[in-house]
Amino acid sequence: MLDMGRACARIAVLAAAAVLGAQAPPGRGAPAQGAGRGGGRGISPGGVGSDDKHVVDAAAADRGRKVWAAECINCHGTHARGTDRGADLIRSVLVLHDRYANEIGPFLKKGHPTQTTPAANLTQSQIEDVAQFVHFEVYQTMRSALDVQDVLTGDPKAGAAYFAGEGKCNTCHSPTGDLAGVGKKYSPVNLQQRFLFPQGGGRGRGGRGGAASSTQITVTVTPPTGPAVSGVLVQMDDFNVSLRDSSGEYHSWKRTPSLKVEKHNPFAAHEALLDTITDKNIHDTVAYLESLK
Ligand code: HEC
Ligand code: HEC
Repeated sequence: MLDMGRACARIAVLAAAAVLGAQAPPGRGAPAQGAGRGGGRGISPGGVGSDDKHVVDAAAADRGRKVWAAECINCHGTHARGTDRGADLIRSVLVLHDRYANEIGPFLKKGHPTQTTPAANLTQSQIEDVAQFVHFEVYQTMRSALDVQDVLTGDPKAGAAYFAGEGKCNTCHSPTGDLAGVGKKYSPVNLQQRFLFPQGGGRGRGGRGGAASSTQITVTVTPPTGPAVSGVLVQMDDFNVSLRDSSGEYHSWKRTPSLKVEKHNPFAAHEALLDTITDKNIHDTVAYLESLK
């Protein structure tokens, strides 16, 4: 049986990695619940790794719910999925990076609007509690998207329509070509994970989602003086970029306005999907792909 906690830990990490196009370290899938807080805290603050996932503290999240209702709910909605006045925090990179309010706290202190007080007036414990609440909602959402029963409740006909229509899957895939027999290849849960996070099984991250992907994100970096260097992306953020070239050599640069960085991301369509796809689309598409035996 699928260990749901681990899958959720992994899905959150993968989502973060997918959004950033960054490479997570080899996955060991920290348990989503009950892991020592000490272990999660302190490790690479602000960084993303499978071993430092934010562990939800249920009591704090419950206290945070009150802060949320008083200060955030009108703009970000009951479940943090956003309204036309505030962003969807479930897909937020800032939230995915946050560990115990180390990102959300400074963000709010910078003068983010709240409903009754300036955000700078929230106490540190209110901020930590409300951050716990946001993480709790992220966890719940990822969990429901991955629920095994839900996976099997999709409508394959609606999935086929989405595949060839709104989802535009058929611009890259074919049910009789590259995806022929994909329903035989993966269990429904793995299939769902492969299609939401296709690069998850590859790049040495451990194949919970099934076979490793041979596709990789590449990058071309052109320094102001030197020749362009291309290779497989190792890491990229606002400050640094690094790659490994075809001879296996590692290159790294500080990012400056004159350093040109071109990213070639074959997974871009799948990453963009995470912003628009609904839970129903996910279940229908998986039911359809599952029928491709
Ligand atoms: C008046 C409406 C409003 C209220 C109230 C509000 N927000 Fe926001 N929030 C926004 C908007 C709009 C954005 C997106 C623009 C921005 O980053 O400022 C946002 C962005 C955010 C982000 C960053 C998302 C990202 O990925 O960049 C976080 C985190 C956040 N809000 C948390 C909160 C919390 C926690 C509260 C309650 C303490 C709160 N907000 C109250 C409107 C609001
Ligand atoms: C712009 C091109 C593009 C679009 C659009 C696209 N994909 Fe993909 N898809 C890819 C690439 C690239 C891979 C990785 C293939 C690999 O690594 O072997 C992939 C992988 C997959 C996989 C995993 C296949 C396997 O054998 O592991 C599934 C399933 C999948 N996509 C389904 C979909 C569905 C469903 C949609 C529409 C909602 C979609 N894709 C839209 C390019 C695309």
